[in-house]
Amino acid sequence: MAEAAIPSAEDLAAAGLRLELDTAGAVATITLARPRRRNAMTGRTWTTLAHVGHSLPSSVRIVVITGEGPSFSAGIDLAMFGPEGVSGETSLFRQAGTRPRDRAALDEGIAEYQAGYLWLRRPDIVSVAAVRGHAVGAGFQLALACDLRVLADDAKLCMKEPALGLVPDLTGTKPLVELVGVNRAIELCLTARTVSAEEARELRLAELVVPGSDLDDAVADLVAALLAAPAEAAAATKALLLQAQGNTLEEQARAERAAQVERLIALSAQG
Ligand code: ACO
Repeated sequence: MAEAAIPSAEDLAAAGLRLELDTAGAVATITLARPRRRNAMTGRTWTTLAHVGHSLPSSVRIVVITGEGPSFSAGIDLAMFGPEGVSGETSLFRQAGTRPRDRAALDEGIAEYQAGYLWLRRPDIVSVAAVRGHAVGAGFQLALACDLRVLADDAKLCMKEPALGLVPDLTGTKPLVELVGVNRAIELCLTARTVSAEEARELRLAELVVPGSDLDDAVADLVAALLAAPAEAAAATKALLLQAQGNTLEEQARAERAAQVERLIALSAQG
């Protein structure tokens, strides 16, 4: 199947995004690029992220998500809730009717937004969030959607949605609970308190915390280390690890065998 075209630089800019591929085509860096709005995101940001996910060349093995300026992301652009919405996008409150078809349309719209987050778990890529400053609400959930989080020591994580009368709906509740446990997740979400980088490391919300000036180098080192494993073995291993939590020990052992048989056949075919 032909790969879809990557969104143009103009389309990316309209969504508050930039995309760069390294020369080998193995690393895609997505930058949240509305620094004057602290990289606040809109519906278009998320649908464009989904489009990026569908259109990246198959050579891409690592996706880094980072933010321009002092904050990773201040979450949803609060204008999305205003009567006017954001230019070119409908206000979420305006769409919120109680008729079944209104509910169905909202559900469908949120699913389209979630698609911008879900692809980051794909086995053929490893996604890395490079977080400096605030990651609030939808921004925190974007970091949670990534496989790995590298935090600058000034990072501040906050699940703000319940404080605004909402729920976190951009796929963040599952990874949050898996990482910190349901009790801590309840506390973090309902208090909407801000978690420092140091506490994030203790809560397993960060794989690595580094001084802010070292963030880019730390991410580059991690990316180089992740690229060391052969692509097919890396993808098969990630697929296996993703299944582990939902599987019984026997199911997982069976999955390991099935994956290893494929690896051994592929390796022996290579001679
Ligand atoms: N939506 C729209 N504009 C925003 C947002 C946002 N989420 N966050 C910041 N901005 C704008 C500010 O209005 C300000 O604009 P101005 O220069 O025209 O006044 C500019 O970005 C800079 O913001 P400051 O607040 O001055 O930046 P500071 O670094 O002091 O604080 C912080 C950053 C903590 C992120 C703060 O901006 C903030 O709390 N923002 C709102 C966060 C929020 O509630 N997000 C929604 C979460 S729920 C969800 O995502 C679903």
